[in-house]
Amino acid sequence: DDFLSGEDPQMARSVSELQAFLADVHQRHACLREGAVATYIPELAKANPDWFGICIATTDGRVFEIGDTQPNFTVQSISKVFVHGLALEDHGRDVLLSRVGVEPTGDAFNAIVLDEASKRPYNPMVNAGAIATTSLIKGADPTERLNRLLAMFRNYMGHEVVIDVASYISERATGDRNRAMAYLMRHFGMLQSEVEESLDLYFQQCAVMVNCRDLAVMAATLANRGINPMTGDRAVHARYIRDILSVMSSCGMYNFAGEWGYKVGLPAKSGVCGGIIAVVPDQIGIAVFSPPLDERGNSVRGVKVFETISQAFGLHLF
Ligand code: DON
Repeated sequence: DDFLSGEDPQMARSVSELQAFLADVHQRHACLREGAVATYIPELAKANPDWFGICIATTDGRVFEIGDTQPNFTVQSISKVFVHGLALEDHGRDVLLSRVGVEPTGDAFNAIVLDEASKRPYNPMVNAGAIATTSLIKGADPTERLNRLLAMFRNYMGHEVVIDVASYISERATGDRNRAMAYLMRHFGMLQSEVEESLDLYFQQCAVMVNCRDLAVMAATLANRGINPMTGDRAVHARYIRDILSVMSSCGMYNFAGEWGYKVGLPAKSGVCGGIIAVVPDQIGIAVFSPPLDERGNSVRGVKVFETISQAFGLHLF
């Protein structure tokens, strides 16, 4: 009953060994006390810095978890991966590329910067690019666009989706930096809908409630070429998995993407909630949740746990 066989057959792990391994990794990283919970969105400041969960979901529908995999939190930037997929389905690769680039910025996730020549935001994983991507979601009116987005998240999660209204309102009330970015993009004709409408949908997608287990299943759905391994429902067309994972690889960890690629070597996405997901194509989705963040906005324990897991299982793609 092997769990994973990477490059090295020696790395194959039995299920009980894996459970013991996860418990050990959890225990060894729980004592890490660095980092700080995000406070720029007032609701995020309420997160418990001790929360710490690790979950692995396999493409054949098994789940391994340890620690705080049940508490709910808002998905924040991790939503960008999935909305990127929906925008690809709505418009196709070429149209999307003409609106939002695929270049890593090397800047912070909230940098106010557009490509000088094309006026496109750099990529769909940074705030500017995500707002532009969200503005491309099709629908007759804001309600239909929101409902399409929620249906998409439901397919990835395998259950009903709830938006945390307090977080949504909290971000809408304080999100002037994103608002400034949206106005700048609108000035250059790079925003598909009205500023407040685009921002509303973006703040709503960031306030979708998930837990660590949901995130692992969502990542496993990407690993499984778009089909949720728990429900068998399709969440995204298989033809766009390559695009989604490529952009995660180069841009998912912001200005840490290079070092992450060097050390962990998996397509990934982080959020200021303290979650990080990573995808091992055709094998597993991994999620770690721990709210204290480093200065780049990535979960401190999350980064360390992924370095450990990637090394232990030989998961680096190269
Ligand atoms: O737009 C924002 O600032 C948040 N709703 C999401 C940011 C985020 O998660 C970036 N992650 N590191």
